[in-house]
Amino acid sequence: MAANVRPLTGTIGARVEGLDLGALDEDGAAALRDALDRHHVLVLGAQPLDDDQQRRLAEAFGAPHVHPVAAWMGSSDVVAYVTNDADNPPQGDSDFHTDYTFHPEIAAVAVLQAQAVTSHGGDTVWSDTHAAYDALSPALRGWLGGLEAHHRMDPRFAEVMRQRHGDEVADRVTAAFGGTVHPMVVSHPRTGRPALFVNPGYTDRVVGLEPKESDALLGFLFEHLGQPRFHYRHHWAVDDVVVWDEVATVHQGPDDFWPERRVLRRVCAGVVVPQPAVSVTVGGIAS
Ligand SMILES: [Fe+2]
Repeated sequence: MAANVRPLTGTIGARVEGLDLGALDEDGAAALRDALDRHHVLVLGAQPLDDDQQRRLAEAFGAPHVHPVAAWMGSSDVVAYVTNDADNPPQGDSDFHTDYTFHPEIAAVAVLQAQAVTSHGGDTVWSDTHAAYDALSPALRGWLGGLEAHHRMDPRFAEVMRQRHGDEVADRVTAAFGGTVHPMVVSHPRTGRPALFVNPGYTDRVVGLEPKESDALLGFLFEHLGQPRFHYRHHWAVDDVVVWDEVATVHQGPDDFWPERRVLRRVCAGVVVPQPAVSVTVGGIAS
């Protein structure tokens, strides 16, 4: 059965219907990869899946792997349950971010399915990093293309670790994920399109700028990514499956449902080492 792909906004997101997600064949997998390259966030609708079926669905986009922080904590299961309830408040997901950019390698794709949803709130919002880059002036795009920024773990995460596991574990996790540097504009590994690669969740400074210069530039770019014209917002229903491209988007989960219970099952697929976008200079203007 052919996939029916319907854009959800003029910029980002598409609903895909007509595929049996629990028994995806190679044609279906190719259709999903093509739709993801074009729309960056795919809403696949509500289909019950077990752990194994979700892992196999993720394989359409790359080899599933354990989130590096979960691996550091001792988990070896590529299928993770992200649970928030009265005892487990959300851990700083409310700022836009690409997952774990404080690490030298990031996931290519995330595949989430809602296992338990809240009576209100709990949406996820994505912003299109290609569209945000394209909307900048050629002069600013040219400058950003030569810059790098430092990314570090959200200090609030270390604080949660400190409260739950004590000082020693919190200090060790901070040391293990002390941060890394990425280009501020990266080339998408599949499409080659340039993407703005900074996020307010993990990016803390621009390499080579004075602190005030860095704060001003990052503040502008974070505000730029925050414009609704680049966004798709999803309200979860039980069994909803959503796939997103980690390079082509940043995402946030507003903390507006706690202390209600929400459970999302997550599989990360594929690995990307962010690479700088090649800038082309035409008539003295970099594009
Ligand atoms: Fe995230």
